[in-house]
Amino acid sequence: MSRVGVIVLALAAVLAVASAEGYDGYKIFEILPKTQEQNDFLYELSKMSEFYDFFALRRQPNHLARVMVNPNEEENFLNALAEHNLSYSIVNDNVGRSVEQEFQLNKLRRSLSPFTGKGRLSTERYYSHGEINNYIEDLEQRFPSRVSLKTVGKSFEGRNIKTITISNGDGRAGKNVIFIDGGFHAREWISPAAVLYVIGQLVENFEENAELLLDYDFMILPVVNPDGYEYTQTSTKARFWRKTRQPYESAGKTCYGADPNRNFDFHWNEEGASSNPCADTFAGPYGFSEPETIIVRDLINSLKGRGSMYLTVHSYGNYLLYPWGWTADLPDTWEDLHEVAMSGYNAIFNATGTEYTVGSSTNVLYIAAGASDDYAFNAGFKIAMTMELPGGGKLGFDPPASSIDTMVKETWAGIRAMAEKVIEKYPTERVEFL
Ligand code: ARG
Ligand code: ZN
Repeated sequence: MSRVGVIVLALAAVLAVASAEGYDGYKIFEILPKTQEQNDFLYELSKMSEFYDFFALRRQPNHLARVMVNPNEEENFLNALAEHNLSYSIVNDNVGRSVEQEFQLNKLRRSLSPFTGKGRLSTERYYSHGEINNYIEDLEQRFPSRVSLKTVGKSFEGRNIKTITISNGDGRAGKNVIFIDGGFHAREWISPAAVLYVIGQLVENFEENAELLLDYDFMILPVVNPDGYEYTQTSTKARFWRKTRQPYESAGKTCYGADPNRNFDFHWNEEGASSNPCADTFAGPYGFSEPETIIVRDLINSLKGRGSMYLTVHSYGNYLLYPWGWTADLPDTWEDLHEVAMSGYNAIFNATGTEYTVGSSTNVLYIAAGASDDYAFNAGFKIAMTMELPGGGKLGFDPPASSIDTMVKETWAGIRAMAEKVIEKYPTERVEFL
């Protein structure tokens, strides 16, 4: 065979593999289960994670479910829906194409708003983990009295994970702390974007927000799972990646990553998590098997006594969720949790009219143990909250870059209001010297 022939064949092989592994032929369906039986049927499907990726599915019926279906399973899926008297609509009939388009657009956005590693970040596009680290490093250079960074560990693939601690620079130690993190789940790109905006407000727009920092410090970890985040940003075949990237063997096959939000060792793997390393909600071989969750655990534990609010930002679905996620029982202080969540709800509604669903994770969404909010609440944080930002775009996880600005601003309105409420409810105790 000629040289050219070999190259053509090799290329064809690469392309064939590429499309087999990508999202070609995948579709996204919307279904409205009206009975508990129909709902439970969808829940059963959701366990077959090689075929079904549920982006929305609640414990209770009468809420729209959304699922991306592997083309090899589509026929079975449609038959099963018919058997259960479920009608559907198709919200995306070519996920592969949408992903491709999104990547092209992002490339364009990157060239239109480059980041030199210095100065403000725009809300015009999504940023890489490297760019995010550069941004917060630059903040520390520019605002040394109010900002301090700490490298708190490395991801499985060796990326530096950094926290940024923001104060008002008055030098007073021992203030209560609000801890915020983003980027637990790789594909939820709007999460780090929203958290970066919070950082920008507290640091670069300090004068307007000085009140928040009078008696409180903020500690923020913008990307908990940088390996997964980078993976989704660099490969169109991995746009829907959720987990970390540590490899696990399962029946002679290698599957990657654990769900970091099922990996916390508090009621670990009891409910709503999987023991199958190939599943999207794999809890890990044991609690805290992932370096990334160990980092968050240690940060939470290091804030004992000072941690007033733990807020973890995810997407999507418009939820303000509080503990518990491992049981349907409510914590004794659920009214405090609800009050703080409602202040966020109201602020966001007043800002843009966007509505959130407020309640305990198990009751309004689904049961899922081993998540960070439950861990932080159990560790003594007065308030622990998971915020599921709105979806958008053709994939749900890709609010178009043009709507990042509106989304992060309304999110900030909600976070700011919750922080105010927390500061009012749990004031830092001032030590009076006599
Ligand atoms: N979508 C989030 C997840 O599945 C929700 C977590 C809510 N908290 C909980 N403890 N279940 O990870
Ligand atoms: Zn998430």
